[in-house]
Amino acid sequence: MKKIAIGSDHVGYELKPTIIDYLKELGYEVKDFGTYSTERTDYPIYGKKVGEVVASGEYDLGIVICGTGVGISLAANKVPGIRAVVCSEPYSAQLSKMHNNTNILAFGSRVVGPELAKMIVKTWLDATFVGGRHARRVDELGAIEDRDNKEFENIEYSQSDKYIDKN
Ligand code: RB5
Repeated sequence: MKKIAIGSDHVGYELKPTIIDYLKELGYEVKDFGTYSTERTDYPIYGKKVGEVVASGEYDLGIVICGTGVGISLAANKVPGIRAVVCSEPYSAQLSKMHNNTNILAFGSRVVGPELAKMIVKTWLDATFVGGRHARRVDELGAIEDRDNKEFENIEYSQSDKYIDKN
């Protein structure tokens, strides 16, 4: 069973139980990393927490919610190994998993309603990373995180094939 870490700030808090129940209905194990009330708090705390447990491998995937999904996804993306996407429609959610192997999904409770949020979640969870040429690009993203890694210097090479590989 896949383990999903979920987190939100106070603005995302009210949408979170709907998503937790839906994930359980779909057969996932879910743990809520806070916040646990509508008391005002700061989204970086929860983006970081969820990012860390996903990056460590303790949880397979993460879902984070704030007002827009932007702040909390930015926080999660600061954790090395995290590729968080903020989505307000299912198409980007699906392609973000297929091409970018995103490991955290973010959305905004002020942007999407519960039914659209559920559709985005399901589409993202059902999608699979296709690998191939996309694996190289995801590796290049990882190399950006480690500027001492020599691989970072090779990032230029994908510039040269952009005219051949338009996908
Ligand atoms: C909090 O007011 C709000 O800024 C937060 O929920 C989020 O939308 C930030 O990106």
